[in-house]
Amino acid sequence: MRSLLFVPADSEKKLARGLDSGADALILDLEDSVAPDAKPAARAGALAFLRAHAPRAGRPRLIVRVNALETGLTDADLDAVVAGAPDAVMLPKAEGGPSVLHLDAKLTAREAVHGLADGAIAIVPIATETAAALFVGGSYRGASRRLTGLTWGAEDLSVELGSETNRDAAGRFTGPYRLARNLCLAAAAAARVQAIDTVYVDFRNADGLRAEAEEARRDGFTAKMAIHPAQVAVINEVFTPSPERIAEANRVVAAFAAHPGAGVVAIDGVMFDQPHLAKARQVLARAKAAGMA
Ligand code: COA
Ligand code: MG
Repeated sequence: MRSLLFVPADSEKKLARGLDSGADALILDLEDSVAPDAKPAARAGALAFLRAHAPRAGRPRLIVRVNALETGLTDADLDAVVAGAPDAVMLPKAEGGPSVLHLDAKLTAREAVHGLADGAIAIVPIATETAAALFVGGSYRGASRRLTGLTWGAEDLSVELGSETNRDAAGRFTGPYRLARNLCLAAAAAARVQAIDTVYVDFRNADGLRAEAEEARRDGFTAKMAIHPAQVAVINEVFTPSPERIAEANRVVAAFAAHPGAGVVAIDGVMFDQPHLAKARQVLARAKAAGMA
């Protein structure tokens, strides 16, 4: 999964557009992009969309972003959408392993009601939207087998922190938000799940998006969320390993295969050892997932 496009679930038009966007996943949003009075319509829209598309082969992954646990709306969200068998639920304002366990229990009960396999629905928390969340990233590790990815958010966090802005004049995240991003990356790696970069809200600025996505990839994120269909192609491109990287990874794997039992090999005067081999395998796995190898 490279690109995850947010679609307000009360917008039939955007739901339809999302399908044609090329995104690897659609995040059907019941939370911040939906006005309070429109929550029932969004739940109904998400369920209708899931019913129509979840059974289809070749579809994007379908994720529902529910309202946060402390809103009191999460149960009604789940009551509406679990019947549509989404692939995952995105949990905003999550605060570590206990939040995941809380949602896990809610999902288990509803999977039973709807005849879905226990654990069928994955969980992707947004791990940095409250100040308290920044202190508990390490608790995601081992919390639930439903946990398949972690992402982060800067908008709600900036309200909590009281920041005037979360980006500097050049459009780069300021210190507190880089901390949140980096904690998410570390929490995801510790939990052995995919690290997914946050949204880039300046959606007409493709160069800015590309730069931010490339930085994310450099550091270890393997996907990025989008808010507009025009962002999807850039994100897919950045997070698909290039032919050069794939060739390089194949060379490393082949060099080790040619020297069974070797801990270290040399290729063209450069040393490669076990971390390089592990990294090469990661690149090939991502290439395979993107249909490139
Ligand atoms: N998913 C699907 N379709 C989308 C879309 C999205 N996220 N964002 C825009 N579109 C559609 C528009 O409906 C429009 O369709 P049309 O040509 O059939 O009219 C087309 O893409 C072009 O949109 P554009 O006019 O460039 O943007 P806009 O002003 O209509 O919408 C936003 C701008 C920001 C309101 C819109 O992109 C959006 O709703 N994004 C998602 C917001 C969200 O979910 N936020 C929560 C997570 S942070
Ligand atoms: Mg939010």
